[in-house]
Amino acid sequence: MSNKNSILITPSILNANFDDLESEIAKISQVSDLLHLDVMDNIFVPNFTFDFKRAKEIIDFSKLSVDAHLMIADPDDMAPKYAQAGCASVTFHYEAAKESRVIIKNIKSNGAKAGIAIKPGTKFSQVEEFIDDIDMLLIMTVEPGFGGQSFMHDQMDKVAKARDRINQCKEPLPILQVDGGISVDTIGEAAAAGANCFVAGSAIYKSSNPSDMVEQLRKIALNSFKS
Ligand code: DX5
Ligand code: ZN
Repeated sequence: MSNKNSILITPSILNANFDDLESEIAKISQVSDLLHLDVMDNIFVPNFTFDFKRAKEIIDFSKLSVDAHLMIADPDDMAPKYAQAGCASVTFHYEAAKESRVIIKNIKSNGAKAGIAIKPGTKFSQVEEFIDDIDMLLIMTVEPGFGGQSFMHDQMDKVAKARDRINQCKEPLPILQVDGGISVDTIGEAAAAGANCFVAGSAIYKSSNPSDMVEQLRKIALNSFKS
């Protein structure tokens, strides 16, 4: 997860069939790096996906390691529980956190990689002080809450600024993830700005061949990535 030239594709099951998640995950598990699990509580965002019990079931049956994206109002309490539950990485929102530094420490001490996410209205400078302590920065390219929204091109300056700063970190460099509206039409732009980890939901699950779509996305990102 650390090489700055490696590209990670992390499919989101938000637009998959929730009644048959095992087979939905199986469609992409051979070709994907991690499973992106969007946890929404209907408080931090106006939508609900999974409670902790259901999320734990998914973490347990998924053959892919889980990258949890917590869009919840109480990450201080819950983020360490997701780490304990066996997620490979746990990303919480800076806007919801009371003590970001404590959350980062508690995620790591419970055995997961720690990520911090920022909404489109939050500046990179607001989280820059954490950059040397985190394993991943998630820059949202839509307002969190729903799949299928349009990619926000105006977030690319933020991605480029974050990439410049990340390249000054000690190896292993934190991963720079983007999430929202990623498709064959937009992934190249995000990779050229410096993102190296890509969440895609509807582009993959609305495709007639999800695993082929993962491979297409990876190819474009590899060809476009600017470190
Ligand atoms: C949005 C979620 C995303 C979303 C991605 O709040 O965090 O992970 O499901 O879906 P698409 O790729 O459809 O924008
Ligand atoms: Zn997400």
